[in-house]
Amino acid sequence: MTTFFKPLSATHAWALGAIAVSFVAIRIASNTNAAKAKRSGASLAPGPKRWPFVGSVLKFPKSRWYESFSSWAEEYGDVVYVDLMGIPMIVLNSLDAIHELTEKRMHIHSNRPHTTLVCDIMGFGYTLTLKQPDKELNEQRRILQKAIGPRVVGEYDHFLNRGCSDLLQRLDGFSGEPFDHVLKVLGELLTRLAYGNHVFDEYGAELVKANIEGVELVSWVFSRLWVVDIIPLLRYVPAWFPGATFQRIGIQARAYVQIIRHGGFEKVKAAMAKGIADESILSKYLMEESASEDNLRDAVAVMYATGVDSTATTITNFLYAVALYPEWQRKIHDEMDRELGRGHVPTAEDIGKLNIFNAVMKETLRWLATVPLGVPHVSAKEDIFNGYYIPKGTMLHCNIGYVLRDKRIWGPDSLEFNPNRFLSKFNPTFDDLPDIWSVPFGFGRRICPGRYIAQRIVLQYASAILATYEVLPCEGEQLTPNEPFDDAAIRYTSIAFSMLV
Ligand code: HEM
Repeated sequence: MTTFFKPLSATHAWALGAIAVSFVAIRIASNTNAAKAKRSGASLAPGPKRWPFVGSVLKFPKSRWYESFSSWAEEYGDVVYVDLMGIPMIVLNSLDAIHELTEKRMHIHSNRPHTTLVCDIMGFGYTLTLKQPDKELNEQRRILQKAIGPRVVGEYDHFLNRGCSDLLQRLDGFSGEPFDHVLKVLGELLTRLAYGNHVFDEYGAELVKANIEGVELVSWVFSRLWVVDIIPLLRYVPAWFPGATFQRIGIQARAYVQIIRHGGFEKVKAAMAKGIADESILSKYLMEESASEDNLRDAVAVMYATGVDSTATTITNFLYAVALYPEWQRKIHDEMDRELGRGHVPTAEDIGKLNIFNAVMKETLRWLATVPLGVPHVSAKEDIFNGYYIPKGTMLHCNIGYVLRDKRIWGPDSLEFNPNRFLSKFNPTFDDLPDIWSVPFGFGRRICPGRYIAQRIVLQYASAILATYEVLPCEGEQLTPNEPFDDAAIRYTSIAFSMLV
């Protein structure tokens, strides 16, 4: 709907919006939290100045949170406390602090934000991303771990290959922003994977449309203030009541939810009943009967909205990095020519032999964090960490982007793009670095369950593009390492490239 939110996936848009809503959920609790901290023998962590009643709102950035949070890291340290009219927020700027809270203490810090409009009225509360920890969440995460986890992702290569050939064709002679092409191909891939080719051919267009429009609607809702989020009882006001716009939005949103959550699922079931269902995650696990049908339906339904933008952005970030640093692109081309022969599109097995390509991809993930602030975790109860009091209901932001450029971890050149850090020949201690295929995907009980399939897609599609094309900035364009990124939860930059054979 707006370019501002264009690359935002539902996962991250919803969480972002939940925080925006929290801005205005006026509770006079800032003093209470300070008092509770004192009573527990701790203190609130340092952070931007707090005023009575409004807390740190006057110092809180209206936009570009990642940049502001990272400058707070320099000013206030690893744990930064912010009070938003009584809503506590903490920004974690060190990997140790993040691991301690979201992993070792995951039983406390694994909730998600909740909003009345999006979760209850619009009906998106069923999504795994917004669910609070409970049995259903555990089962849905288990389903995804099994269905798109490390043991099985290799079984989907024929789905991936089909999408990859389509992408290469779309990029043939292409000049412009490749993001929409990548997005379209990945949307189709994840939908085919979830529901099968047969359902995709019949119903895919409707499913994809509902997903895209649903994400846009949620993003738009989150960019505004809704009185029903301040006074949840208003959800019982009828739709005809003057001013009850939120109810009419709810009706529209529930129509999308109906398609996203139930449409594809019902089609697969019908096809199975007729004996014409083809291969898909849903048909496979419905046959196995190892999970409840409702949880299987909901786990699969979330794949498009959570997986498409983030994965497409990671691929286009890689194209940006190799266009910006042509010397690294040349090294990858030479390596591919040497190891595989010119023009050979690498298989998953081949990719393992491409050390330079892998190092450049890892450095891209590090240097350009796709989701720099992750998705907020919420603390289910109060806690104390390093002498700092964490109130119940605190919104925890793991500053992934900052951690991925932290000098303490990556060394004095942490702000530079230097893939050599991931090559043992140049960095004998590279094994000691954090797992770069894990940190950008979040932490603890909420770590991204799509990270294995995302890794496989990103590596395959990016290597195929480089095996086929030279990626250059469009004629007359001069790229810089500081291209402006959209101000969104997914850090996407709109850069146009030319693809030369
Ligand atoms: C490169 C691509 C991707 C990146 C960088 C990424 C990153 C993330 C991050 C940072 C989170 C939040 C984790 C946390 O709260 O600590 C997340 C959550 C999630 N991601 Fe991904 N993701 C990617 C691709 C995918 C794909 C392909 C899928 C599914 C097919 C997916 C499904 C999910 C789901 C369902 C959640 C919510 C998990 C929960 O709340 O328990 N993601 N992702």
